Amino acid sequence: MSLNSNWTVEQRYRRIEDISQESIDAMVELRKQDSGYPSYHVAPKFGLLNDPNGLCFFNGEHHLFYQWTPVGPVHGMKYWYHLSTKDFVHFEDHGIGLHPDQDYDSHGVYSGGALVENGNALLFFTGNKRDENWQRVPTQCFAKMSADGKIEKHGVVIENDHYTEHFRDPKVWKQGDDYLMVVGAQTPQNTGSMVLYCSRDLMNWHHKGPIQTRYNNLGYMWECPDFFEIENQSVMLFSPQGVSSESPYDFKNIYSVAYILGDRLNLDTAELENHQDIAQPDYGFDFYAPQTYLDDKGRRILIAWIGLPEIDTPSNAHEWAGMLSLPRELQIQDGYLVQSVLPELKALQGEAVTVENVLELDTTSFMVELETDTDEFELTLANAAGDNILFSSTETEFMLDRSKMSQLYAEEFGSVRKARRLSTKQTIEVYVDKSVIEIFINGGKHTMTSRFFIDDLNALSITDGVKTVYHAMSPVKGLDD
Ligand code: FRU
Repeated sequence: MSLNSNWTVEQRYRRIEDISQESIDAMVELRKQDSGYPSYHVAPKFGLLNDPNGLCFFNGEHHLFYQWTPVGPVHGMKYWYHLSTKDFVHFEDHGIGLHPDQDYDSHGVYSGGALVENGNALLFFTGNKRDENWQRVPTQCFAKMSADGKIEKHGVVIENDHYTEHFRDPKVWKQGDDYLMVVGAQTPQNTGSMVLYCSRDLMNWHHKGPIQTRYNNLGYMWECPDFFEIENQSVMLFSPQGVSSESPYDFKNIYSVAYILGDRLNLDTAELENHQDIAQPDYGFDFYAPQTYLDDKGRRILIAWIGLPEIDTPSNAHEWAGMLSLPRELQIQDGYLVQSVLPELKALQGEAVTVENVLELDTTSFMVELETDTDEFELTLANAAGDNILFSSTETEFMLDRSKMSQLYAEEFGSVRKARRLSTKQTIEVYVDKSVIEIFINGGKHTMTSRFFIDDLNALSITDGVKTVYHAMSPVKGLDD
């Protein structure tokens, strides 16, 4: 497979104008032959997708952008690719939303968020520039998307005066008369932080410094910060790098996602007041850089990148990499962020089929609902040769085992992930789409999100005593027509 490490810097930083139509057609052709390409998840037609960007509800639609490298399934020159949808069933493909075409973003339009205001969606992003010594020169910038869909850049609003070269991924919101921004940064002491800025006019930003919590020394960089309120509680959500743990459950991936719930952000001291212990939303193999936004119904919706930096997947052989998670509504319950797939996705579900032990699959895009009140159970997805992935549980823990897949990869990071089981009786939702599985456990207090690779997957089996209902899932429209 074509690995990131096999590409030269010059190859990775080629722009879309430098890629011939023949090589684009060849990539698309290979991708179309991939039985692992999803049908109801967003994935790139070719090249690499990473973080969701600029998520917003604007002009009657959900707008999603994502980080995209067109040259191939590698990290290189980054663009923002733009989609919109009213219902998560029909999508409109708008192509590239932001190109790296300015001096300040000459080496990529990096991640950021959106703020909808006065009939425009303001798209905040990091201008990633590298100087002649290949040192990064990051700046925070913005562009304006108007109701007719035109996007215009407005340049740099924050330069990097306080942090190392790791200073990126702005997320902006409004509170009273103040605009607030968080940025992911590495302090001069090489610790990760979520940095707060304040503004009255969106142009002049006042640096307030890192948000203060008990975790002022956790990892060496926090990427993709998000800050929001749900039900009068404040949530810091971020993707820390350089964190590990002795626990059998926590921080097992190369990079992780974490959140901290608190009462409120004190704007004078930049302190997150009365906060809880750090927690993780996901315990699978592939979940990173989640971002959230509010829609017209007041729902706080989260979308993540299903993938991780520095990990190549077998999809590379088909010239694409990375996909977006299903949209998940967030709520807070018992001190946890609770995630549930948006009800809009029910429109894709076929009729209910009760599963007795084994189901021969006639599609590999489906969902199952498990009702369990037994201590132990196993759900297996397998092919005729016995290659499989196994989702199982004891009384106290869930386990996802990828050690018997047809195509193994990233084994140096382990082939099993575990999560605490908070109750015996619970309903578990499992969404499968060709080469991705999203499992909602503990009533959505945790998820296990992962890619998997089983050639000719054709059977699902479940142990006795777990009431299991299956629904085929139809493809979404407008993404690959
Ligand atoms: C996270 C990240 C961001 C950055 C972007 C570049 O995956 O490294 O910090 O803005 O990806 O594509």
